[in-house]
Amino acid sequence: MTQKITFTVQPGGSLNGSIRVPGDKSMSHRSIMLGSIADGTTHVKGFLEAEDALATLKAFRAMGVEIEGPENGEVTIHGVGKHGLKQPEGPLYLGNSGTSMRLLCGLLSGQDFDTILTGDASLESRPMRRVTEPLAKMGAEIETQADGTAPLKIKGGRKLKGIHYDMPVASAQVKSCLLLAGMYAEGETVVAEPAPTRDHTERMLNGFSYPVKREGNKAIIDSNGRLKACDIDVPSDISSAAFFLVGASIAPNSDVTLRHVGINPTRTGVIDILKMMGANIEVFNEKTVGGEPVADIRVRSSQLKGIDIPERLVPLAIDEFPVLFVAAACAEGQTRLTGAKELRVKESDRIQVMADGLQALGVDATPTEDGMIINQSEIGGGTVDSHGDHRIAMAFSIAGLRANDTITIQDCQNVNTSFPEFKTLVTELGLNLT
Ligand code: S3P
Repeated sequence: MTQKITFTVQPGGSLNGSIRVPGDKSMSHRSIMLGSIADGTTHVKGFLEAEDALATLKAFRAMGVEIEGPENGEVTIHGVGKHGLKQPEGPLYLGNSGTSMRLLCGLLSGQDFDTILTGDASLESRPMRRVTEPLAKMGAEIETQADGTAPLKIKGGRKLKGIHYDMPVASAQVKSCLLLAGMYAEGETVVAEPAPTRDHTERMLNGFSYPVKREGNKAIIDSNGRLKACDIDVPSDISSAAFFLVGASIAPNSDVTLRHVGINPTRTGVIDILKMMGANIEVFNEKTVGGEPVADIRVRSSQLKGIDIPERLVPLAIDEFPVLFVAAACAEGQTRLTGAKELRVKESDRIQVMADGLQALGVDATPTEDGMIINQSEIGGGTVDSHGDHRIAMAFSIAGLRANDTITIQDCQNVNTSFPEFKTLVTELGLNLT
C-alpha cells in the first residue's frame, strides 16, 4: 500500500518563469509498446519517468524485452520483433494506468501465449468492455469480471480476423487497442471514430514504417507489415502543461513560458477553450519533431469569461477538464460543459469529484449527467478529496492561486502517475504548496 500524501496550498501568489514539463504520457506508453515489437533498437528521448509509463515499461520487460533506462528521459529498447514477445511469469500489474491496460489488451490478444492484466483499485473498477467486446468480434478471448472490469484473462493463440468497427464513444484508447490487434489479424481492421481523438498511435506506427491508412474518420490497418526501429523524441505533455496554462491565466501578475510542448491538433482543445474564454496565450517556435508538432507557449494573466464549451472540443481536451473547471470558477459569468459523460469513467468520476471539491471551497458548481455548470465564485479554503486522481489533485493545487484561505488536498500520491515533478515546478514558479 503506497503512503497517502496530502498537499497543503497557501492562498494567493502568481506564477512566473520558463519551464519544460515532463514528456507526453500517451506517447511514452506507445514508444515502449511499438519499440518492443519492432525489429532493431529504438532510442527514446523525453520519456515520461512516471508510474503509468513505467508500468508499461515493466510489462514489456516481463515479456522478455531488454529495455535500458530510463535515465534522464532516455530509454533504449531492444526490439524483439512483432512475434518475439514471451509469456510473462505472472500477471502484469499496470497500476493506475488505463492506457496500458486497454492498449495491451489489443496487442496481447494477438500473441500466442496467455496473459493476465491487473491494476490498482481505480483501474480495476474502470470499464473494459469497450475493448473486450470489439476484440471478441475479432476472435479474441478475454475473460473479465462479471461487471466487465479487470483483472482480465487474455487467451493466446487465437486466430484474429479484421473487423470494421464504429466506435460508440470517441476513445483513442479503444481505437489504439483495435489497431494494435489489427496488426495480428487476417484482413483489414477498420476503426471509425465518431469525433477526432488523439492520433499518436497512427503517427508513431508511421514513424516505425508500419502502414496505417487514414480515410476520413477511419483508421485502417492490416497484418502486412513489420516495425522498423527508430528514434523517438517525446515532447512535453500538454496535459501537464495545462495546469500552468490555467494557473498563469487566473493568478494576477503571472507570465509563464512552457517549452517544447506537444501541440498535436488532437490534443490542443485546452488552448482553444482557454482562448475562447479570453486567455492570453501565445504559441510560437512551432516545429515538427518526429512526426509530432511541438511549440513553446507563453501565457499571461487575464480576466477569463464564462463560455458554453463546444462539444466538438471535448475529446480534444478530455484530460484537462479538472483544471478547466477551476478556470471556470474564476471566469466572469457562467461556464457550461456538456457532452462529457466520459469524465465519469476516468481515474475517478471527474464530474462528481470536482463538483464535490469545488462546492467544498464555496464555488457555485452544479454537476450534470454529462458535464458541469459553474458560475464565477470566490474560491474559499477548505479540505478536498482527490480520490487518488492525479489530475484532480493538481487542479485543486492550482485553485489555491485564487483562493482566500488554505486548501488541503487529500490522497495526492497518484500525482506520481503522470507528473512527479509537479510540486517542484509549481513551487519554483510561485505557488506555495507543501
Ligand atoms: C489516452 C486516451 C484518452 C485519455 C487518456 C490517455 C491515450 O482516453 O483520457 O488519459 O493515451 O490514448 P480515451 O481515449 O479513453 O478518452
